[in-house]
Amino acid sequence: MDELVIRQPDDFHIHLRDDEMLPLSVEHVSAQFHRAIVMPNLRLPVVSTSMATKYRKRILAAIPTGQLFNPLMTLYLTDRTTPAEILLAKESGIVHGVKYYPAGATTNSDSGVTDLEGRFKVLEAMMMHGVPLLLHGEVTDKDVDIFDREKVFLDSILSRVVKEFPDLKIVLEHITTSDSVDFVDACSDRVAATITAHHLLLNRGDLFDGGIRPHHYCLPILKREEHRLALLRAAVSGSPKYFLGTDSAPHETHTKEASCGCAGVYTAHAAMECYAIAFDSVGSLDKLENFASTFGARFYELPLNMGHIKLVRKEQMIPPTYAYSGGTIVPFRAGQALNWSVEA
Ligand code: DOR
Ligand code: ZN
Repeated sequence: MDELVIRQPDDFHIHLRDDEMLPLSVEHVSAQFHRAIVMPNLRLPVVSTSMATKYRKRILAAIPTGQLFNPLMTLYLTDRTTPAEILLAKESGIVHGVKYYPAGATTNSDSGVTDLEGRFKVLEAMMMHGVPLLLHGEVTDKDVDIFDREKVFLDSILSRVVKEFPDLKIVLEHITTSDSVDFVDACSDRVAATITAHHLLLNRGDLFDGGIRPHHYCLPILKREEHRLALLRAAVSGSPKYFLGTDSAPHETHTKEASCGCAGVYTAHAAMECYAIAFDSVGSLDKLENFASTFGARFYELPLNMGHIKLVRKEQMIPPTYAYSGGTIVPFRAGQALNWSVEA
């Protein structure tokens, strides 16, 4: 298959940031996706519907003319989130989920939750109002090996949440292990997972390929090859529980190429091409449309997009950096050729 026309996809997990970075990240996401679930971990986290409304306006103002793009907003769960705020979020019609970051887990997660059990009243309200819980599924205990933090989260926290809140919709974001695939498979249909393009294409060896590779450092961290293969099998399985979420996470170049570099891989510039490469690698391009354009929309109870995009097996060169007014971003596969392209 050298050409693939699919319904326009949505990105169910992205970081767009704010201020100077916003125009570039919005230009890239809106070139391929009609909608995106926008993460709330700004420097000043989006903790209320009123903040989400203002952030959404800034995103809309950054959309290039001629593009149609609908940002789907999320709230950042903190130790102070109230059930009343959940009701406001639901009634707003613009908030589509609440994101859980364990405090200290990743970029701008200092205001995250210190004790999820202390938030059970809020989860109850979410279950009642049909607001999905979006999980950064890792524990932060430094005594737990970094490669085991996702698995320990499943065993010590998520299994309990799933039991206590049988009707709460849950998305286990950016899964990285076969353990998460087994967990999600064993749950009912109200538990789903997003899978990034970089976790489908890289394993932990790519962090140290001839030297340390800061642009492959993300959280949850890349895992062994057997886990990458399990994610790939889940993505092409045809199960509606698995759908596209890039976790594209722009960071200014110098904050990644540093003695203590930030976590995040930027894939928004060529997201669909990267997924096409992954699906093509196992002869499953025919499974891409449902993964990218159907299953996530159904889970979030959104109408399917009307437009289409065309992917062609045609080489494109990825630039070494993208410039924006505040600096540069090094994109995934910088300076390399990709053998798929999105045709306008
Ligand atoms: O690699 C990551 N980058 N993982 C996250 O959970 C956050 C993200 C970011 O915001 O940069
Ligand atoms: Zn993320």
